[in-house]
Amino acid sequence: MDIASTLVQGAYIVAGLLFILALSGLSKHDTARMGNRYGIAGMAIALVVTILAATIGVNDGGVVETGLTGLTWILPAMIIAAIIGVTVARRVEMTQMPELIAMLHSFVGLAAVLVGWNSSYETEVAYPKVHDVEVFVGVFIGAVTLTGSIVAYLKLSAKIRSAPMMLPAHNMVNLGIIVAFIVMTVIYVAIPHDNDLARQSLLGVMTLMALFLGWHLVMSIGGGDMPVVVSMLNSYSGWAAAAAGFLLSNDLLIITGALVGSSGAFLSYIMCKAMNRSFISVIAGGFGVEGGTAAADTDYGEHREIQAEGAAELLDGAKDVIITPGYGMATAQAQHAVAELTKVLRAKGVNVRFGIHPVAGRLPGHMNVLLAEAKVPYDIVLEMDEINDDFPETDVVLVIGANDTVNPAALDDPGSPIAGMPVLHVWEAKDVIVFKRSMATGYAGVQNPLFFKENTQMLFGDAKARVEDILKAL
Ligand code: TAP
Repeated sequence: MDIASTLVQGAYIVAGLLFILALSGLSKHDTARMGNRYGIAGMAIALVVTILAATIGVNDGGVVETGLTGLTWILPAMIIAAIIGVTVARRVEMTQMPELIAMLHSFVGLAAVLVGWNSSYETEVAYPKVHDVEVFVGVFIGAVTLTGSIVAYLKLSAKIRSAPMMLPAHNMVNLGIIVAFIVMTVIYVAIPHDNDLARQSLLGVMTLMALFLGWHLVMSIGGGDMPVVVSMLNSYSGWAAAAAGFLLSNDLLIITGALVGSSGAFLSYIMCKAMNRSFISVIAGGFGVEGGTAAADTDYGEHREIQAEGAAELLDGAKDVIITPGYGMATAQAQHAVAELTKVLRAKGVNVRFGIHPVAGRLPGHMNVLLAEAKVPYDIVLEMDEINDDFPETDVVLVIGANDTVNPAALDDPGSPIAGMPVLHVWEAKDVIVFKRSMATGYAGVQNPLFFKENTQMLFGDAKARVEDILKAL
């Protein structure tokens, strides 16, 4: 290995270490900003070194070609991509982040498919059979990630229904595709390299099959389980990038892909545990799940309503208040008003705390980010498990734009699509005030019996406007 290649490899190791520090920093509130900085630094090093290496023609195996050939391709592509990236990132609302992330995952999948196909034409490789397996695996993971992420994007942006689609024998279909993939890989490796037609045809059929599998896996998953799907696709995109790294002989891409793949898999596992879902069932596209039935026609009785003045009175007389925010707080951008209300109540001696469900909103940590932005102190923002036993001693719960995450049907109705998902036990408090605009269902599409309980009162309207009304009345 010459000096240029050694320097490139050294820089890749530094970038890899910075990515590991970034992941470690992002695991806690107070170190998250630093974690982001490490990630940015790592990516800057990775980009600059990769561009330089392409300019002078260095890859893992040493100097492969010299001149500005690489740069003339990379620079225009980067400028176009940067313009698109900045425009999209500026336009996107916080509430649209999950769909943006799903779309970005699909690009990683597409890149892995293109790299795989391109590599399949390479003739001068050290270990042709190993290379064939890499091509097949890379294209397979990439294609599954591509269509899976597109379906996730469509479901998250409500362009298609989020309810699970169950084809007849869907589990057998998935299993059949996996078995067919293994058999095809063996055949692909056995086909002589001069038989281009047979090789490309087999690769083509496998690509179509994998594209179908990605679509089918995510179509089979219901709205309530979408958080796990987003982190699962994040993991798939990491493995797709790692596979591309093998094909391009790029160590940094392998390291980074493996980091994203394994941390995404772990996040999916944590989410499955938090939502009481089987990890295997979700990664296998709802394997073993027969699709719950929403009890849409159940008559829960009449709901009761309250106005902002009444809510202010209840809060004035309370000692303990818990606020459970959800997706509606994000859409209403009510976090600053909620933070102000918290300040006012705390100044009056009320013990105010927040209960955060692990999948509240549309992103892992969505509510924590919003509350941190509004400068709510971290020590009063508690996880669901830390606060769930405290509701019976609570005077008032303010449910601000949350629905599925406070739905008792998850515990009481075994036929519900969200059955078994742990929820915040808000109904155990003395009084519950629900802020939302109508009696509409939450993301999982099921009615919420909480709204009809004796101790629940609905405060209709935009959450931000209603919290501001309460502030005025206080
Ligand atoms: P949701 O069940 O999504 O319900 C949000 C509620 O907010 C709706 O019922 C809506 O009712 C209300 N709302 C919307 N805009 C509002 C506004 N401007 N003012 C007041 N209320 C408003 O919320 P959740 O409890 O946070 O549950 C999250 C759901 O999303 C779960 O099913 C979860 O599995 C899923 N999900 C989560 C993630 C992650 S990672 N967190 C990712 C994908 C999916 P109205 O229309 O009547 O106002």
